Amino acid sequence: MGEKGLVIGVEFAPRVAREFIEKVARVRRNVVPYIADARESFKFASFGKVDVVYCDIAQQDQTEIAIENCARNLRTGGRLILIVKSRSIDVLRDPKEVFREESSKLERHGLTVEKVIELSPFDKDHALISALWNAA
Ligand SMILES: C[S@@+](CC[C@H](N)C(=O)[O-])C[C@H]1O[C@@H](n2cnc3c(N)ncnc32)[C@H](O)[C@@H]1O
Repeated sequence: MGEKGLVIGVEFAPRVAREFIEKVARVRRNVVPYIADARESFKFASFGKVDVVYCDIAQQDQTEIAIENCARNLRTGGRLILIVKSRSIDVLRDPKEVFREESSKLERHGLTVEKVIELSPFDKDHALISALWNAA
């Protein structure tokens, strides 16, 4: 994206938020730090519809949180990039099964899954899911 466009960076942990402001937002003029819970998707609507929702929050219900943010804030045809940490969802299940299930959840809620990229060995038991938002 370079210098064009705007990134709204949502983070709720105070220490991480402070570092994010000091090390990133201060030096990148097009990064807006938004200290809030990503579950409060209605708060981000004031920025208008965005082109991409990138979600990497390692929460058990993070797929639902991502879907809610797409429904409120992602333009039709926009992209969701969801990082799935299978152990945050279920420590006992085979990660591949978790990735399949989270992909199906997205498909049931108006997204078309384009790619599921497993990130092992760089990030163990993680996958990146890229999906397009079809709903108007
Ligand atoms: C796995 S880290 C993100 C790593 C980052 N993408 C990177 O590559 O450096 C997850 C972050 O999400 C934040 N987080 C978790 N749940 C959140 C929520 N509900 N709302 C906002 N931030 C959340 C955590 O505080 C943590 O800083």
